[in-house]
Amino acid sequence: MSDNGIGGAVVTERSGGWPPPWEPRPVRERDSAGRSALRDAMARFGTGITVLTTGGENPHGMTANAFSSVSLEPPMVLCCVARTAEMHEAIVSSRCFAVNVLGGRQERLARHFADRRRPRGPAQFEGIDRWPGKHTGAPLFADSLARLECRLVEVHDGGDHSIFLGEVLEADWSSETEALLFLGGGFHRLGWGGR
Ligand SMILES: Cc1cc2nc3c(=O)[nH]c(=O)nc-3n(C[C@H](O)[C@H](O)[C@H](O)COP(=O)(O)O)c2cc1C
Repeated sequence: MSDNGIGGAVVTERSGGWPPPWEPRPVRERDSAGRSALRDAMARFGTGITVLTTGGENPHGMTANAFSSVSLEPPMVLCCVARTAEMHEAIVSSRCFAVNVLGGRQERLARHFADRRRPRGPAQFEGIDRWPGKHTGAPLFADSLARLECRLVEVHDGGDHSIFLGEVLEADWSSETEALLFLGGGFHRLGWGGR
C-alpha cells in the first residue's frame, strides 16, 4: 500500500493494482433473473423522479428519472427518453416539454405515468390537479415539488434513447418538504427542512 495525502485525507492505493479483489461484471452480462450488470450498478444511484409532459390537443406524460440540470447560464436541463416511448415523438413534434419534479406523496403518479396501459391523450391526466404551462401548454401538476417549462434546443443521439436539451423558460416550486426518490429499484420518500 502507498499513501497519498489529498486535501488532508489519506487515500490508500492498492499495490496489487489490477485485478481488484472482487469480480467486475461485464455490463451486458445478465444474471439468472435476467438483470443486467448496468441496471444493478445504476440501481445504486439514487435519483429524483419527474413526470415529463407535453401539451396541445393530445397531451402526454411520462415518468422519467434520467433528468439533470445542465447549465445555469443559459438555464438548461436535459432528459433522456427512449426512442420507443410515445413521449419521444411528443417532444420532437411539440419542440417543448415541462418537467414535474415529484414529491413524496406522488408515488401513485410516478407509477401511473410509467404504466404503458394508461389511457392516451387528456384521459391520462384525469383526476390530477393541474394547469397548462403558459409557455408550453404542457400540464403542470399542482402538487409537484417543482415545475419547469422548457423549449427544446438540441437533440443528441444517446443509443436507444435521445438526449433532449431544454432551455428553461420558467421554473417554480412548492413549499412541500418531502421528495420522491428512486433507489434500489423502488420508491422512497425523503424529507428535508425546506427553505
Ligand atoms: C422510476 C422510473 C423511471 C423511468 N425513467 C425513464 C427515463 O428517464 N426515460 C425513459 O425513456 N423512460 C423511463 N421510464 C420508463 C417510462 O416511464 C415508461 O416506459 C413509459 O410507459 C413510457 O411511456 P410512453 O411510451 O407512453 O411515452 C421510467 C420508469 C420508471 C418506473
